[in-house]
Amino acid sequence: MKEKVLKKFQEVFGGEGEIHTYFAPGRVNLIGEHTDYNGGHVFPCALTIGTYAVAKKREDKKLRFYSMNFEHIGIIEAEIDTLKNKKEDGWTNYPKGVIWAFQEKGYAVTSGMDLLLFGNIPNSSGLSSSASVEVVTGVIVKDLFGLESVTMQEIALLGQYSENHFNGVNCGIMDQFAIAMGKKDHAIFLDTADLSYEYAPIVLKDAKIVIACSNKKRGLGDSKYNERRTECETALAELQTKLSIQSLGELTEEEFEANKNLIQNEVRVRRAKHAVYENQRTIHAVEALRKGDIAEFGKLMNESHISLRDDYEVTGKELDTLVETAWKQKGVIGSRMTGAGFGGCTVSIVKNENVEEFIKNVGETYQAAVGYAADFYVVEIGDGAGLL
Ligand code: GLA
Repeated sequence: MKEKVLKKFQEVFGGEGEIHTYFAPGRVNLIGEHTDYNGGHVFPCALTIGTYAVAKKREDKKLRFYSMNFEHIGIIEAEIDTLKNKKEDGWTNYPKGVIWAFQEKGYAVTSGMDLLLFGNIPNSSGLSSSASVEVVTGVIVKDLFGLESVTMQEIALLGQYSENHFNGVNCGIMDQFAIAMGKKDHAIFLDTADLSYEYAPIVLKDAKIVIACSNKKRGLGDSKYNERRTECETALAELQTKLSIQSLGELTEEEFEANKNLIQNEVRVRRAKHAVYENQRTIHAVEALRKGDIAEFGKLMNESHISLRDDYEVTGKELDTLVETAWKQKGVIGSRMTGAGFGGCTVSIVKNENVEEFIKNVGETYQAAVGYAADFYVVEIGDGAGLL
C-alpha cells in the first residue's frame, strides 16, 4: 500500500523533496456507546484498515489536497492563513479543520503542504473514517513542523476540537482517542471524565470480531447526534438541581433511579438512563473480559443494543434487523450496533466455525427485510496512528 500511495503522490504532485507516508486506523467500539460526552467509559479498539497519507511541506502557504477515493474531484486547494469550512470543499474540511485547530491552539503552522490520502475504511460505515483523516493530519502536522511536544493524546484532542468547532459535530473524544492511541490486539478502557485509560487484551481464542455495515445513508445523523447530546445535558442540569455531580457518568444505577424524578420529561429520563446504565455496563463488561468470561461480555453487548434501541433510540430498522438476526444465529456470543447509530454498522463476536454461516444468514435476512445488501468484514485489532 505504501508504494501505491507514494507512486500516486509523485504522479499528482511531483516527486522532489522530502516525502513521508503515514497511517491512521479506523476504530470499532466494543461497548460503551454514547457515554463519551457524558463523562462515562468507552471500550473501543483500532482496526488494521484505515487512512494512508503521503505529505510534503511546501515553500508557500498553499494547501493542496488529493484523495484516491475521490479521484474525479481532483486537487482541492486552500491557503493556511484563511481556513474556512466550505461545503463545496467536501472531505478536505477534515484536514483543513485539524490544521486550523493547531493554529487556534497556538502552534505555528508556517507553510503549506501537498497531501494525498487513500482510505480503505468503507465510507459512512460508522468506523470513523473522518476521525481517521483528522488524526492522520495531526500526525503529519506534528511531523512536518517538528512539533515534538505534541503528544498522541493531544492530537486526539485537536481532532475532536476540529470536529466540534470547524465541522459542527459535537462528538466526544472516543473515536480520535482510539485511533491515536490504539494497540494491536488490545481495546482501550477509557474513562472520558479524566482521560485515564488502560489497555485490555482481547483474546477471543475461538471467536472473531465481525462487523456488518448496514449501508444505510446516514442523512440526518449528525443533527440527531447533537440532539441526543443536548437532551443529556438538559437531563444533567435537572439532576444538578439537587445532586452535586459533573456528569451522568458519576451516577450508579441506584442513584439514578432514586433521583430520576428530577428530570422533567419522560424522553429525557430514558436518554439519561441509557447514559448511566451503559457506563456501568461497560465497567462490568471489562471486568468480565479480564476474568475470561466472554459469555458475560457478550450478554452485556446485547443489553447495550437493547438500551440504544429502546431508551436512546439511535438504532432504526437496519441496525435492529442486523442485530436481532445475529442474536438468533449459532455461535454468536454478542452483537450490538456500534458508533453513533442511525445507520453505520454493528459489531458481533462470532465463533470461528460459525462465521461463514453467520454472514450468509444475516446477509440474506437483511437483504430480504431492507431491500439492499449489508457488507461484512472480519476484522483484526491494529495499532494507533503514526509514520509508516
Ligand atoms: C460517534 C462520536 C463519538 C461517540 C459515538 C457514540 O462515533 O464521534 O464521540 O459519541 O458516536 O458512542
